[in-house]
Amino acid sequence: MIKILILNGPNLNMLGLREPEIYGDKTLDDIKKLCLNHVSELEMKLDFRQSNYEGKLVEWIHSAYDEFNGIIINAAAYTHTSIAIHDALKLLDIPIIEVHISDPKTREVFRHTSYIEPLAHKVIAGQGAHGYLLALDALKDTLNIINKSE
Ligand code: DQA
Repeated sequence: MIKILILNGPNLNMLGLREPEIYGDKTLDDIKKLCLNHVSELEMKLDFRQSNYEGKLVEWIHSAYDEFNGIIINAAAYTHTSIAIHDALKLLDIPIIEVHISDPKTREVFRHTSYIEPLAHKVIAGQGAHGYLLALDALKDTLNIINKSE
């Protein structure tokens, strides 16, 4: 069974309340349920986590090293600032999919840089909560391609 880690960064625990005109009205728990439902069709096992702390996210990325087959990350604001998260992701030899609910590249200039993008197999942005499901599909496709070429 393929094991996937989905990591969510700061302020994503406030989805639903937080700028609904940008992020929509779904809570993080709603998104988790959508993802769990989706993976049951894809035969994947999912661990869905959120932290407001950079160091916690770094530790979870370390734990993915021999525990998970792939990682989906919405590092939220740390996307644009965290070399620590970049370095931790760089350690991994599993596929990484970067996801954002909004499209940071069409927003303020300070959101245009992503320290995750250079390491990501794919970036999904601006698709709302549905982007998480697209990220799961992209990860499944990436893992299938890797398995076939081995
Ligand atoms: C976000 C975009 C980031 O720029 C922002 O800091 C977030 C959420 C998104 O999902 O659209 O917190 O990652």
